[in-house]
Amino acid sequence: MSNSGDDFQVVTRKKWMARKCLRRRDHRKSESDYLNDCPDVNVEKFQPRLERLCGEMRQSDYFLVAMETLQQQLDTLKTPLKRIVCLGLGPFTRTHQALHQAAFILGLQQHHNIEEALYFDPVFRDSEAELIHLFNGRLMSEDCAGKHEATVPTLYYLPHCPYALMHNILWSNWQRTTLPNVLLISNSFEMLTMARRNQQDHITKVFEFCTETALDDDYEHRNVFNDLSLHTFPQEALPQKDDSDFWTRYPALKVNDDELVTEVETNLATLNLSSD
Ligand SMILES: C[S@@+](CC[C@H](N)C(=O)[O-])C[C@H]1O[C@@H](n2cnc3c(N)ncnc32)[C@H](O)[C@@H]1O
Repeated sequence: MSNSGDDFQVVTRKKWMARKCLRRRDHRKSESDYLNDCPDVNVEKFQPRLERLCGEMRQSDYFLVAMETLQQQLDTLKTPLKRIVCLGLGPFTRTHQALHQAAFILGLQQHHNIEEALYFDPVFRDSEAELIHLFNGRLMSEDCAGKHEATVPTLYYLPHCPYALMHNILWSNWQRTTLPNVLLISNSFEMLTMARRNQQDHITKVFEFCTETALDDDYEHRNVFNDLSLHTFPQEALPQKDDSDFWTRYPALKVNDDELVTEVETNLATLNLSSD
């Protein structure tokens, strides 16, 4: 699998930075400018590239082990997967991490033959939306900020997303009968809650009742799948329905813009799109 920018990245990050950023004092701004200024891809050319990457992804050890882990949890829950919801994938025609994550989730959709796959990220461009359609996905019509009901067994894929998005998925499904429909791949709850043990929110509250399986990151590209885990919520492990202390909802959380800026920049710092 090539790590170079080849056809989807005409202007390399290095060259772009040299041309546009070095004179600027505001480094933060220059990183987001980079994403905005990135030339649009040709969808017709990009589609076969993404298809090829999906094929390679499906053969990778990382994908195969992740599928085994997911299947084990589905067997425990005694349910087939019915829907995928992917939030915060990122600008997958413009960043290396998001591109490989896109190949992963599209590969998962093919592997499980899922008909309903919904996507939302405020950064998507028209070309990215078009590609999602071409791969049998659908864009959500509005920003639900993670407030989405798992009316059927649903895999939520939120790689390296703001805390509030994962929190609000739990918030929306905070019932003993509905929470087991949530299968969530996101940053590890164990790591996320480390610094927040006394915080009152749904992630810290459910942490001790959920099953977390780390998706070991042995993928050939670094900083793409780091720190991700599959989280499931088997009903028998959850407190009883009449435990009102547990089942009373906290407020939903707002997506924190500061958190986003920091995270986007952390990822951009590890971008490896240049071919030189
Ligand atoms: C840190 S980036 C992660 C991008 C990519 N998944 C990665 O690992 O590099 C967080 C992503 O969350 C997206 N995001 C922010 N608010 C969102 C919302 N309300 N719904 C869905 N995605 C959102 C941002 O646009 C951004 O692409």
